[in-house]
Amino acid sequence: MFTRSGVLDITSRHRVVFTYLKSLKFRILLVMLAIGWIPMALMAASLLGSYKSSAVASRSTELQNQCRILANQLLNYHYLDDPSSELLNGELAQLASTYDGRILIIDKDFRTVRDTYDLIEGKYVVSEEVIRCFEGQTSNLLTAQGFIEITIPIKKSDAKTVQGVLMASVSTNGIKGGAEILQGNASIFFLVYGVLVTALAVVLSWLLVHPVEQIRLGLREISNGHSTEDLAVKNYTETEQISEEFNKIVNQMRLLDESRQEFVSNVSHELKTPLTSMKVLADSLLMQGDAPVELYKEFMGDIAEEIERENKIITDLLSLVKMDKKAASLNIEPVDINDLLELILKRLRPIASRKNIEMVLESFRPVTAEVDEGRLTLAFTNLVENAIKYNKENGWVHVSLDADHKFFYVKVMDSGMGIPEESLNFIFERFYRVDKSHSSEIDGTGLGLAIAKSAVLVHKGAIKVSSQLGEGTTFSVRIPLNYIA
Ligand SMILES: Nc1ncnc2c1ncn2[C@@H]1O[C@H](COP(=O)(O)OP(=O)(O)OP(=O)(O)O)[C@@H](O)[C@H]1O
Ligand SMILES: [Mg+2]
Repeated sequence: MFTRSGVLDITSRHRVVFTYLKSLKFRILLVMLAIGWIPMALMAASLLGSYKSSAVASRSTELQNQCRILANQLLNYHYLDDPSSELLNGELAQLASTYDGRILIIDKDFRTVRDTYDLIEGKYVVSEEVIRCFEGQTSNLLTAQGFIEITIPIKKSDAKTVQGVLMASVSTNGIKGGAEILQGNASIFFLVYGVLVTALAVVLSWLLVHPVEQIRLGLREISNGHSTEDLAVKNYTETEQISEEFNKIVNQMRLLDESRQEFVSNVSHELKTPLTSMKVLADSLLMQGDAPVELYKEFMGDIAEEIERENKIITDLLSLVKMDKKAASLNIEPVDINDLLELILKRLRPIASRKNIEMVLESFRPVTAEVDEGRLTLAFTNLVENAIKYNKENGWVHVSLDADHKFFYVKVMDSGMGIPEESLNFIFERFYRVDKSHSSEIDGTGLGLAIAKSAVLVHKGAIKVSSQLGEGTTFSVRIPLNYIA
């Protein structure tokens, strides 16, 4: 019976084993062991096999030769007629004992004349080999029981008739013994070789996987927040490249995080400014208990302006957040861009007329494009508003519209104060405003161009600025006629 914790123990142990089996270290170890072991085992098996077969072959040839010599002697001494010769019996016995086997001499009546085991003398042996031998054939075979069996006809070299058969049966135990000794030596060699190969495989797999392990640990340190240092595992080209790519991602994330923090602190600051003004105004009214009604009216007017400012900041921030959302929230439909620009200019004309600024819309052709009308209106309104806001008395604002087969182009030119060169790179950033002195005279939060740029980019378009300080500024916008998802 497993306790609940016992079951958990086993599952987590399984997980550890499974993780190890899946690891690169284990796979490399396995490959190395296979490379070290398999060829060695195959070679040993084939060597042992060929040793056995060649030993059997050489023993049977040797035996065959000895038997042939003996058969000739038997013939010469007429042994088949008189098997009592002590000399020949002695030689037969010696040959049998040398090869640890048995020799039978069979006469032409298939009767055993001599058996070195003294078991079947006088008995008849009618086997296939013996019959074939009487036909003059020599046989030499290895039985399933591991005996070499040889039959040699006893006959004069020039005669046709076979007078008898010499049959020798020899065990291959001696050969087996040799093979076993060889096998024993091979086992010792294998053991030593195996230990060395395994140790080498373990060391090499560790060395190969170590840099990957270092990367893993480095990543863990960084993700746990324990380290802010760059990852630098330079053992292999690949690990060096992984480290570099990873550091790039981390740096991008850091930059993103920094800009997010900066944005949040800017937002808080911008939102606090009108609140602080309102608080000062309200406090100063409260301090003088009997302030005249005119003063109340004046301060209340100021407070209403600050509320208006706060409201604009929040509206701008909300539209910026909306812009940042993915393209899924876009409301794309065919829009007449000429109409859209005309409407924007019409709405802003009263503001322009305050400074007696001339507003001109120049359209080279009718343009209809697949866009989100709301977002583009916001973008172009901001551009034209800036052109009016940062203009001089009696100046001009010139808006032009053109298109080719792929894009439409809108230019907003003005005769205003221009933007200093060093500021050109920053004007699209959130809350950036050129030169704090004019920003205190001219209202604004520095979000307009950020909103305009987001709106253009979400349409896969581009926005550029060129400016001459004291002479004027031109914003050029390019947007695809057909929406690119
Ligand atoms: N046409 C222009 N001429 C001169 N300066 C400009 C022009 N357009 C933008 N700028 C400068 O770039 C800054 C950023 O412009 P942006 O429209 O983002 O903010 P803003 O006009 O100050 O405030 P908001 O548009 O959010 O009310 C402005 O403060 C201004 O200094
Ligand atoms: Mg603006």
